[in-house]
Amino acid sequence: MRLARWPLAAIGPYLRTRQRYEPGSAVPPIASSTRRHAGQRSARRPSHRILDVPPAMTLRNLPRITLGIGGSLGHDANAALMVDGRLLGASQQERYSRIKHDGGFPAAAIADLLADAGLTPAQVQTVVFSEKLFQTTVFDRTRAPSSWLSRGWSSLRSKFDRRPGFGHPFATQAAALMPQATQRFAWHHLTHVVGAFFTTDCERAAFLCVDGKGEDSNASIGRISAQGIEMLAELPGENGLGLFYTLTTRFLGFPSFGSEYKVMGLAPYGQPRFAMALRQLLQQGEGGAIRLARDAQFHPHQLDTLLPWVAATIGMPARQKSDPLRSEHADLAASLQLVFEESVMAMAAQAKALTGESTLLFAGGCAQNCVAAGIVRRSGLFAQVINSPVGGDMATGLGAALMDQWQQGLLPGLRVEDRGYYLGSLPGQAPAAAEPYRVEVGDDLFETVAGLLANGSIVAWCRDRMELGARALGARSILADARVPGMQSRLNLAVKFREGFRPFAPIILEERSGEWFDHSGPSRYMQFVEPLRADRRIASNSDQTDMRARLDARRCEVDSVVHVDYTARLQTVHAGTHADMHRLLSAFERCTGVPMLINTSFNVAGEPIVRTASEAWDCFLHTDIDFLVIDDQLFRNPMQLSREEKIAWVDRFKSLA
Ligand SMILES: [Fe+2]
Repeated sequence: MRLARWPLAAIGPYLRTRQRYEPGSAVPPIASSTRRHAGQRSARRPSHRILDVPPAMTLRNLPRITLGIGGSLGHDANAALMVDGRLLGASQQERYSRIKHDGGFPAAAIADLLADAGLTPAQVQTVVFSEKLFQTTVFDRTRAPSSWLSRGWSSLRSKFDRRPGFGHPFATQAAALMPQATQRFAWHHLTHVVGAFFTTDCERAAFLCVDGKGEDSNASIGRISAQGIEMLAELPGENGLGLFYTLTTRFLGFPSFGSEYKVMGLAPYGQPRFAMALRQLLQQGEGGAIRLARDAQFHPHQLDTLLPWVAATIGMPARQKSDPLRSEHADLAASLQLVFEESVMAMAAQAKALTGESTLLFAGGCAQNCVAAGIVRRSGLFAQVINSPVGGDMATGLGAALMDQWQQGLLPGLRVEDRGYYLGSLPGQAPAAAEPYRVEVGDDLFETVAGLLANGSIVAWCRDRMELGARALGARSILADARVPGMQSRLNLAVKFREGFRPFAPIILEERSGEWFDHSGPSRYMQFVEPLRADRRIASNSDQTDMRARLDARRCEVDSVVHVDYTARLQTVHAGTHADMHRLLSAFERCTGVPMLINTSFNVAGEPIVRTASEAWDCFLHTDIDFLVIDDQLFRNPMQLSREEKIAWVDRFKSLA
């Protein structure tokens, strides 16, 4: 196997000069980070430029096939396939293994992507990982940052060459599957940034990537344009904003990986009375620099050792998973959200100061906090704010593949937006067992389903290619009428089998969204939380403190998709990028005058979103969903299983989560 790195002219200076902003220290101005290294590179280029895009190649004897692999940090393994600048598909391993956040080598996802494209593993020329496994391994073992690596770079590089991937299981398994392929390794944060940049039409942007961890840093600021990427500042270490949020999430009794969004949903019920105490856990510097006052890593047992420290600081014991949620837990969630938003806003301001750009690209795991993203967008700090369409690490394989093909000069003008993020597999045929329950649709599936929804039915929707990422975007969704009283509770308890406090999200015609929400742009991938317009609100005269009572109190015409603080996590539907869903919403609006529906992912608690028609049918049988659409066919639920059988089936996934 042959190893290639990113071109040394790009990577070497980056390791030597990358700038950091640390708590308590001034952030270096752009001028100081553009110093050059004599003899290293052209004087025309700033030395911190880490990816320069060459002109498109003209010799194209063979198709250039790149497989991006993400998730080597141990969760959310994923893969993406690109050929000659075309994105053929991207998917997550969890959809195949049926284990949520599966961090194993994404062999099934790779096999499906290649089969769908009519390719074999032997044809893949380049495998790109969404992380520099060598740097991560050294950092994990030594806690030494890359500045240390740079001093010993020459000797370490030879070791790197001999042991590509540093023995990481992903590199080893990829080499076994595709021994002829060159392996490359991308900076983790940049896979987030590049994956998001190519969803937009903007020519250039500042980026702010805030993550749990990427090699040896937790936040990055820089600039990206069609010409390349510049890294301007980083926050070193692992104990940054992401780990702080995860630690507090764990303190609140949500120990499972990826539960941070539950805390975001809990926050509107509380008052931020613990904010001052939470800030005592942090060291804060200029420009939004932040880190936990104690060094820590993302290991569950190590986070647990910090819980007594958190308890002593805020004066409240940690909640156990089985404890009921009380007002003080909501208050802590609200406090965490406030401190988080303050930090993100300060970092965004720092990105503005460092770059002067008018567009901000917000990426990384922390960008999943779409409440904070909405606040940054509404602040007016940047004329335009772009948030990653796919939160977390689930699109880092896509970012890695894009980086490679971009660097080969194969991406002039590519926009992933052209296909939206419907990049997974097709559902296939409905199982034979479903046939007796098929319902005649009539002339128009969309009109029929809109009528069912308007009559209060819950409809599962499984059509066309599966979405990439954790959010259902109308390809594997459960849909319902947001006007129906009690629908929020019905969906949570009888369909999703999850906590009753959790809100649902609206899916709304993009051209109508401004009539309902105060929003400043599209939110086609549920990236932003926006407030309901004042003229749509019903003033609550309830002084209830009980969470359930607050949730059930009347707030507006579409209670099920508006949280207790009158906000909603929007998905706006554009006719050009999602014609089917636009057609359904249009039909529903003709029936009801309301251009939106409840949209929640087609799964139960703990289960990955369904992928195939068979999985859709199986999930359908074990819930109280009334109807199921598989491509152009409509089925009614036999409702043959008891409540106990359904709960037992759901518990199977919870035990795997
Ligand atoms: Fe990440």
